[in-house]
Amino acid sequence: GTVHYHDFIVKETNVTRLCMTKSVLTVNDSFLGPVIKARRGDTVYVNLHNQGDYGLTLHWHGVRQPRNPWSDGPEFITQCAIQPSTNFTYEINFTEEEGTVWWHAHSDWTRETVHGAIVVLPAEGTTYPFPEPDGEEIIILGAWYVGKLNLIVEEDLAQGVNMPNSNGYLINGYPGDLIVECTMRQTYRWVVEYGKTYLIRLVTAVLDAEVFFAIAGHNLTVVGMDGAYIKPIVTPYIAASPGRTMDILFTADQTPGLYYMASREHQSEDATVTGFDHSNATAIVEYQGNYSYSGTPLFPDDLPVYRDFKASEIFTAQIRSLASQEYPVDVPLDITTRMFVVVSMNVIYCDDSCQSGHEILSTLNNISWLDPPVDILKAYYWNISGIYGDFPDYPPTWYNFTGDYFDDSIVFTSKGTKVKVLNFNETVELIFQGTNVLFGSMNHPMHLHGQSFYVIGSGYGNFNNETDPLTFNLVNPPKLNTYPVPKNGWIAIRFRADNPGVWFFHCHLQHHQSWGMAGVFIVLNGDTEETSMRPPPPGMPSCPSWTIPFEF
Ligand code: C2O
Ligand code: CU
Repeated sequence: GTVHYHDFIVKETNVTRLCMTKSVLTVNDSFLGPVIKARRGDTVYVNLHNQGDYGLTLHWHGVRQPRNPWSDGPEFITQCAIQPSTNFTYEINFTEEEGTVWWHAHSDWTRETVHGAIVVLPAEGTTYPFPEPDGEEIIILGAWYVGKLNLIVEEDLAQGVNMPNSNGYLINGYPGDLIVECTMRQTYRWVVEYGKTYLIRLVTAVLDAEVFFAIAGHNLTVVGMDGAYIKPIVTPYIAASPGRTMDILFTADQTPGLYYMASREHQSEDATVTGFDHSNATAIVEYQGNYSYSGTPLFPDDLPVYRDFKASEIFTAQIRSLASQEYPVDVPLDITTRMFVVVSMNVIYCDDSCQSGHEILSTLNNISWLDPPVDILKAYYWNISGIYGDFPDYPPTWYNFTGDYFDDSIVFTSKGTKVKVLNFNETVELIFQGTNVLFGSMNHPMHLHGQSFYVIGSGYGNFNNETDPLTFNLVNPPKLNTYPVPKNGWIAIRFRADNPGVWFFHCHLQHHQSWGMAGVFIVLNGDTEETSMRPPPPGMPSCPSWTIPFEF
């Protein structure tokens, strides 16, 4: 493959949205960040020069990074932050994924503005499993906060109160002209040619909401998801969780004119919203050419409304892998490790610093992730003891997870840094079970670093160990890296632990990640060099809050 080099200069830049200017972190002076383009089989180096005021890291969401956790990026998991006035070079290996994935900052809430698309073209000499499109278009669904996000979050976390919600949504960086509370008209326009078919590369960079997306008057054909091709889905709208990427074929075959594309919040962490119009972001699809056009663009009337869980379910239920000769399914059939992980909202008593006496936390198996003083990868690689403990395979108590009332032993939680260690090549079946604790039930888009997983089943209520496995799809389940655990329900996933390293898994709602809905897999080395982690690259950032007993 080819080797590509990029320099990413991160610094504070003033950006105006929703009638308000604030200083945000940008890459190479632009929001949105640059596009990385490569072929499958290529290697990309990104040298991040941090000229901002805070430390940060970058993550290549959906890229497997075989044997190379050193460049995966989540802060406190595979590295410490790249400090202001320093730089670090990431090595990204595109070996398995094809289609659209993305990159984003992975420390605190910096991914609000530090993100961009990654386009992985088919390997040299190969083609798409669909006709070559006439053109391509990147669409990034984002969110905007009025106010300096990291400062608001810091304050809210310290007080133990709810964290801020976005004030509006964006399409390719702009809220669109249907936002009523702000007179500023900032709309992204995409010019298309009649009769042509385009490949839309869609990235869901929204922080804390699931969204619907549609283009007025046009069907969408979804052909890829999370960096893998899927069985085409022809649909008037899509539903996407934070983190999800899609490849979508779009044919400009309607009467030439202007059409709105719109994204609308599906569900968010907090439904009580004040301020700007929270619900619709729009952009305009404009047919090129000479035609007379009067009136306002058509709005997509197939766009489902807020909290239309049925519409989300109908879309999601259609996702299947290609499962063809060329794109076979290799879902593990003999399982060596079974886990049952309860995904929940909880609370914890807090010290005098917090107003209410307790604060909200999010948990996995009733443990809320606590960042260690040195990243897990260093601690593992250099055998530093006392940094992490064992992540439990099962919840501490079995209860009616989706019931309405819970006693204190279930509502309250504790913080911990817990890691699940897997032998190389172990086959894992994991049930993620949602709960109704604190009546805070909602979808949790669970994301795994280091590999995609097969989603073999899902359902509502409590997982039934006897009957639900009979419904598992082992024939053509989709292979994805992010999947919503349904509100008051469960999902079953399977994967083979054949990527040695340290891999984060967490809810991709930023609120929930910050509140601790996270854990880590360590996949141990196999017997050969090819089945072992690579050695660390030069210049891994050191960890300022940790007294180093020896030099790395
Ligand atoms: Cu898209 Cu851990 O992240
Ligand atoms: Cu969540």
